[in-house]
Amino acid sequence: MNTDISAIREVLLARIETLDDKASILRSPELKQLFAGIKDQPAEKRAAYGQAVNAVKVELEEIVARSQEKADDRAPIDVTAPWDVNATLSLLIPTTHGTVHPLTQEIEKIADIFARMGFAVSESREIDDQYHMFETLNFPKGHPARDDYDTFMTVETDKDDDPFIAPAHTSTMQNRALVAGRAKLEAGEPIAVVVPDRVFRNEDLDARHEHTFYQVEGIYVAQGVHAGMLIATLQKFLESYYGTELEVRVNPFYFPFTEPSFEFALSCPFCGAKTEDNSKGGDPNCKVCSGEGWIELLGCGMIHPNVLKAADIDPNEYTGFAFGCGIDRLVMMKYGIEDVRHFESAKLDFLEQFS
Ligand code: PHE
Repeated sequence: MNTDISAIREVLLARIETLDDKASILRSPELKQLFAGIKDQPAEKRAAYGQAVNAVKVELEEIVARSQEKADDRAPIDVTAPWDVNATLSLLIPTTHGTVHPLTQEIEKIADIFARMGFAVSESREIDDQYHMFETLNFPKGHPARDDYDTFMTVETDKDDDPFIAPAHTSTMQNRALVAGRAKLEAGEPIAVVVPDRVFRNEDLDARHEHTFYQVEGIYVAQGVHAGMLIATLQKFLESYYGTELEVRVNPFYFPFTEPSFEFALSCPFCGAKTEDNSKGGDPNCKVCSGEGWIELLGCGMIHPNVLKAADIDPNEYTGFAFGCGIDRLVMMKYGIEDVRHFESAKLDFLEQFS
């Protein structure tokens, strides 16, 4: 064998013993150099030289293959074995754990507060129909308020030739809660349900608007329910959630499914309005309420008789209230989060703050 070749072979055989990644020897500069040298040989020696170079490569490949077989023979990894934290850290393998999403954490707190007030907690769904989104909520076909909800709809249609919808509010669950609760009324108990879940709207996105966000719907029906009970329930809920006393302001509003309807504002938990007048109270530098001192938070009202009738509940015998509160807003205000889009952004820097 050519002396060059045998010298380099010795070097490579010695080195491969020391390598963890034995296959890397096949990419070594020395081996490349041997192959590159073939073309420089005089014609009569070229074939023999080439064969000798190739023999070195085959020899190395066999060593690599044997080492891999050996690796496969190693004992299986025992995943139940005690974990050596320091050894892991020393390898700089990340050891952080995932955390529960801040909205999930807050939804649990919200559900817990309502549960303590006697409400059952139920879930919505991510695909629904026109009947629950509109018809049972007193939006007849062609009602202009149907357009207020920027509802995503499917191309496929149901048996009535209507598209399916991605619920644009948790009120799609009102009729179901009422129908399921009828027996309770007959047994002399109230219907008291909250539904915290995800809703979808075809919105232009900005710091305050997401296409996917969360609401909590509240439904309460019994004999003699009145608007004072609605306001007291919401005030108690918000005070428990923020852990502070709050003033609330109730303005008239319009929803087809409640009559009367209200928009509910609370004094800013950060800079706190102490006046009924929007122009006064509140800190002009407050990032949360922009100095207004009040924050419009949710829609609510007394359940419209037609909504009760659609669930076969006699509006002359029973009355009720309903509310729908944006959860993202509530959480943003609690923690001073300035952009709703952080929630769906999968930014770990943001999410890890809530671990
Ligand atoms: N569903 C309404 C909305 O999303 C809020 C609401 C719920 C109003 C229940 C009244 C009663 O705008």
